[in-house]
Amino acid sequence: MKNKKRDILVTSALPYANGSIHMGHLVEYIQTDIWVRYQKLRGHNCHYVCAADAHGTPIMIKAREENISPEKLVTSIAKKQYQDLKDFGVEFDKFHTTHSDENKLLVEEIYTSLQQKNHIYTKDIDQAFDIKENMFLPDRFIRGTCPKCAAKEQYGDACESCGATYSPDELINPISTLSNSKPIWKKSEHFFFKLSNFENELTQWIKDAKLHKNIKNKLAEWFEMGLKDWDISRDEPYFGFKIPGTKNKYFYVWLDAPIGYLASFLSLCKDRDNLNYNAYFKKDSHHELYHFIGKDIVYFHTLFWPAVLEAAGIRKPTSVFAHGFLTINGKKMSKSRGTFINAKTYLNNLDPNFIRYYYASKLGPSMEDIDLNMDDFVARVNSDLVGKLINIASRCSGFINKNFNGELSRELDDPKLFNTFLQCSQSIADHYEAREYSKAMKQIMQLADKANRYIEEKKPWMMIKKEEQHEEVQLVCTQGLNLFRMLLIYLTPVIPEISDKAKSFFNEENWHWNDTVNPILGTKINKYIPLLTRVEKEKVDNMMASSNETTPKASTNSEKNLITIDDFLKVDLRVALISDANEVEGADKLLELTLDLGESSRTVFAGIKAAYDPKDLIGRHVIVAANLAPRKMRFGVSEGMVLAAGPGEKDIFLLSVDAGAKPGMKVK
Ligand code: 2FM
Ligand code: ZN
Repeated sequence: MKNKKRDILVTSALPYANGSIHMGHLVEYIQTDIWVRYQKLRGHNCHYVCAADAHGTPIMIKAREENISPEKLVTSIAKKQYQDLKDFGVEFDKFHTTHSDENKLLVEEIYTSLQQKNHIYTKDIDQAFDIKENMFLPDRFIRGTCPKCAAKEQYGDACESCGATYSPDELINPISTLSNSKPIWKKSEHFFFKLSNFENELTQWIKDAKLHKNIKNKLAEWFEMGLKDWDISRDEPYFGFKIPGTKNKYFYVWLDAPIGYLASFLSLCKDRDNLNYNAYFKKDSHHELYHFIGKDIVYFHTLFWPAVLEAAGIRKPTSVFAHGFLTINGKKMSKSRGTFINAKTYLNNLDPNFIRYYYASKLGPSMEDIDLNMDDFVARVNSDLVGKLINIASRCSGFINKNFNGELSRELDDPKLFNTFLQCSQSIADHYEAREYSKAMKQIMQLADKANRYIEEKKPWMMIKKEEQHEEVQLVCTQGLNLFRMLLIYLTPVIPEISDKAKSFFNEENWHWNDTVNPILGTKINKYIPLLTRVEKEKVDNMMASSNETTPKASTNSEKNLITIDDFLKVDLRVALISDANEVEGADKLLELTLDLGESSRTVFAGIKAAYDPKDLIGRHVIVAANLAPRKMRFGVSEGMVLAAGPGEKDIFLLSVDAGAKPGMKVK
C-alpha cells in the first residue's frame, strides 16, 4: 500500500483579486506548496490548483473607484498575485480565475442539479439598501454602533471590540460606507440552499474526512445551534454570474468560489492529455482531494461545500486542512501598527527561502496561530539553515575541490552513521504527510547537528596537514557531503531553490525521496558556491520600516471620508486678482474669469452667475486652487477653481482676501 502511486488534487483558498499578497496569505500557500512538493518528491501524481477569486461587491466597488472594468481589475491583480507567489517558490499546476468559462459552466450545472432535486427555494428577505448608490449593501459596507457594547464604527455583522455577532438592522445609527448615508431596509427575493437537508450526510462525511479535532469541535457547536439554510443569491449590481432564469439575480461569490477549485482543475485537464476530470470528481472517485484553508473559512468548506457537492452528485473532499492566523511580533497583522508586511516588501529585502523554512519550523496540523517574531526569525534561520545545514557543505567541499580535483571517494568513511540518517527517512516522511512540519524540521536539524559533530571530531582541517592522512580527508568529506545531500533531499519540499542549487553542485539531475538510499561515490562535484548567506538584521529592520511607510493609512481614512494633512497640502491655494469677468454665451450659470496670479494669468469658469454681476468682480482678490488639472468644459478649458462658500444659486459667496495680498501669494 505504502508504495502505491496516489492521485492527489490539492487546493489553497482562492485569493480575492482586490489586494496584494501579504505574509499572512503566505502561511497557507507555503504550507500547501510544501505538502504538494513532498507528495511529488515521493513520486505521487499530485496536482496543485488555485485561482483568482474574482467576484463579489468589494471587487466591483474597487473597479468602479479605479474607473476600470472588474474583469480588467481582476486580471491585473491576479497577475501580480501569481507573480508574488511564484517568487516565494509557490508552484501551482494551474492558477486560473473564477471568472472563467469553465467555472460558469460548472456553476450552472451544479445549480441546475440542486434546483432539480428541490434543494433550492426562494424567500423574500429584508436587507439594507443604499438609496444614493441604488444598491443593496453587504454587511461589511455598513458601519454603526455595536448594539452590545456601544463601540462606534463597527461592521454590520460583528463587533471587533466585544466580538458580538448580530445582523445589520441591530446596529445603532447604521451608515453606508459607500455614500455615508443612512440605509433603508428593503425587501428582495433571495435564493436559498437547503443545508438542513444534509445533516446526515455531513455527519458521515465529518467522520470519513478525519478532520482535525479543532475543526470537529467547531462543527459540533454549529450542529448544536442547528444548520441554517444558505442564501446563495445577490441582487444587481453585482460582479458575478447571473442565476439562470432570473433577470437581475447573481450567485453569491461564496457559491462560485469553491466551484472554482473544480474549474481550475478542469482547465488543467484541458492542458494535460493524461489527466481526466471525471476520474477525480465522479461520485465514487478514489482519487484524493484536499483543501488547505484558513480557520476563518471552515464553515464554508466543511458545511456548505460538502453539502453542495453531495447535492450535485459530485465526490466530496477527502479532507480539509485548516491553519491559524499569522501574528507579527506577537501582534495581529495591522496596517496602522506597521505590522502588515506585503509579499513584495519582504522580497525587496529578504530571501524567500528564509521564510519558507521559518514557517515550516513553526507549522503543525492544528488551527493554532503562528507568530513571525523578527528576532526569532533571524536567530533561527541563521542558526539552523546557515549555521547547521549549509555549514556542513562549506566545511567539506573546499577540501574535495582543492585537494582531490573535485572527486568524491569511492566509499563512505562511516556507513553506520549514514544508515542512522537513513533510518529517519520514514519518520520525517510521516511528519510531512501529517503536516507536522515543525517536527520534521526539528528532526532534520538534529541530524545536521550530528553531521557537524562528526566533522568536528574528525577535523579534516588538521588531517590535511599530514600527508599520510590525505586519503582520510577525502573519505570524511565525502561522508559529510553525503549527509548534507541526504538532509537537502529531506528539505526539498521546504527550500526547493536551495535544493536545486545543491543538486547542480552534486552534478545530479533529479532528486526523488528514495535517492537518499544510495550515497553518491566516486563522482565529481562542482565548485562550491555558498548556497545561502546569513539573514542580516538591518534588512529585517528595513523591511519593517518600509511596511510602516507603505501602510495605506488613507484606506481607513477614506472609509471615514477623511483626508490626511498631506492630502490637504497637495492643494496649491493662491491669491488671484480678477482682472476680467464676462458672461459666457449659452451658459446659464457660468462666468468666465481672467485671473492674474502675478507671474501668470489664466482662465477659470465659475458657476456664480446667479450671485454676481461680472463687472462687480473685476479688481477683487480671491483664492484659487492653482494646481487643479485643467478641465475641458463645453465653453473652453478651465484652469483652476475659485473658492466660494454656500449652498448655490444666489447664495454663493466668493472667498476674498485683503486687497493688500499680492496676486500669486501662497495661502497658508
Ligand atoms: O476568504 C477568502 O479570501 C476567499 N477568497 C477564499 C475563497 S476559497 C474558495 F472557496 F474558493
Ligand atoms: Zn461590541
